[in-house]
Amino acid sequence: MSKLTQLPAWNALWQHFAEAKQLHMRELFETDPQRAERYSLEVGGLFLDYSKNRLTDDTLKGLMQLAREAGLPARIKAMFKGEKINSTENRAVLHVALRNRTNSPILVDGEDVMPKVNSVLARMGKFAHAVRSGDWLGYTHQPITDVVNIGIGGSDLGPLMVCSALKPYGHPRMNMHFVSNVDGAQLKETLKKVHPETTLFVVESKTFTTQETLTNALTAREWFVARARDEKAVAKHFVAVSTNKKAVAEFGIDPANMFEFWDWVGGRYSLWSAIGLPIMLYLGEENFTELLNGAHIMDQHFYNASYEENMPVLLAMIGIWYINYYGGGSHVIAPYDQYLHRLPAFIQQLDMESNGKKVCVDGSTVDFETAPIIWGETGINGQHAFFQLLHQGTHISPIDLICSLENRTSLPGHHEILLANVFAQAEAFMRGKTADEVRAELAAQGLEGAALEALVPHKVFDGNRPTNTLLMDRLDPRNLGSLIALYEHKIFVQGVIWGINSFDQWGVELGKQLAKTIHAELAGKLASAPHDSSTKLLIERYRRANRD
Ligand code: F6P
Repeated sequence: MSKLTQLPAWNALWQHFAEAKQLHMRELFETDPQRAERYSLEVGGLFLDYSKNRLTDDTLKGLMQLAREAGLPARIKAMFKGEKINSTENRAVLHVALRNRTNSPILVDGEDVMPKVNSVLARMGKFAHAVRSGDWLGYTHQPITDVVNIGIGGSDLGPLMVCSALKPYGHPRMNMHFVSNVDGAQLKETLKKVHPETTLFVVESKTFTTQETLTNALTAREWFVARARDEKAVAKHFVAVSTNKKAVAEFGIDPANMFEFWDWVGGRYSLWSAIGLPIMLYLGEENFTELLNGAHIMDQHFYNASYEENMPVLLAMIGIWYINYYGGGSHVIAPYDQYLHRLPAFIQQLDMESNGKKVCVDGSTVDFETAPIIWGETGINGQHAFFQLLHQGTHISPIDLICSLENRTSLPGHHEILLANVFAQAEAFMRGKTADEVRAELAAQGLEGAALEALVPHKVFDGNRPTNTLLMDRLDPRNLGSLIALYEHKIFVQGVIWGINSFDQWGVELGKQLAKTIHAELAGKLASAPHDSSTKLLIERYRRANRD
């Protein structure tokens, strides 16, 4: 038995669950008119309504007790103090240092990391200012109009999501492009849109060994040099962001054009570091600082607030309730905002790459569920696609409905319709529609007898389906920073409860390793390697299709 399942709070919650699972949220709302007031809270510009969950005061009490028994207080302190909590890689986990706006010292191996954090931020600011102001000129003395970010995973999704989310704050001259896929199509289509004289390529890779990124960067470099006809021009058009100075130099980018970060920044937690350079180029230093400020507000709240009033802890423990007790294996992210359309993909990596594990820090195998499958889409599109399953299907999947109260477009009427849908969905998921309500509705439409009864079961909604509603005052850099940090900490808390290391990602290695051999076979550099019959068949079909 795992440590977790032996905790008194874990087992007490199972006893509570036996009764709690009978409850319907409708009744909980009817018996407690103050439920929404009591089960909601505000941090900075974020408001969370978690009242539409299958919870009572006893549930919350039990969950917070579980958090304490699982050692959450000590783990939070350890992370903020720079202890090496990423044990399989022997690294500290310090994305909080990147937005430590009070500048209080944070030590790793006895060294305060804040001076280097501040120095890279200052370099990024200077460079971004030069590019944005038009002082930084390309090889034909023209200002930069297009930035092409080349990176994948955490070196793509964070900057892409933030630049998309904050488009109204973007520099009007600057067009942002993101290339991650190695298929060739994404790079080819991007290169069609840009001009070598006015394009800046930002090659982002923590390790600078990622095959997809290096292949794309090399092709981009060749494309550029073929047009500029001058190797020296590369210095004006290629910069790198990495922790690996040596590999950057070997690739042919002058280390003077490199922005550094450190091994204590995880790839999926890196948008606050130099990986945020495209964000700064697009939004400017001030807005990037606001993003950091927003994250810092959430960090402070997470560190200081009591668990009962702690937004990341509440979201995490409510998640544990569904995943481990109800057996809900998926979680939907539904932003009601087109600008946030990449948020589900970003949170998918953040959560599933962090907590998609089944081995605890001590090497034992879990005997409980861990990370849910994170999926989603902008809510309004989801309503016309997969919400049917969420309302009437057999899976219970909690949903985060995320929106901004302020209308950022000047188009009249749209925002009310949008928000009416957010609130209506949350209400529908909670209340559902009973058979009696359906009967009354059908009778009012003139139906009766067998025809009416035949329709009733199809039109019943069980309800009792959980949602969290997250309202932002407005979608601005500060609130977006708080929102991202909220999810980072939620995921950390869940990892602590499960006793897993949320900060390594060994699961991606095997595929990479096998792809190396198969690549050699496809490229004709290796006749054949031992494989199962299916893999052999697939390789053979590729070879046949590509034989000259
Ligand atoms: O393969 C997974 C991964 O290591 C992610 O964790 C990371 O964000 C991505 O690849 C890119 O890695 P890098 O920034 O080192 O190129």
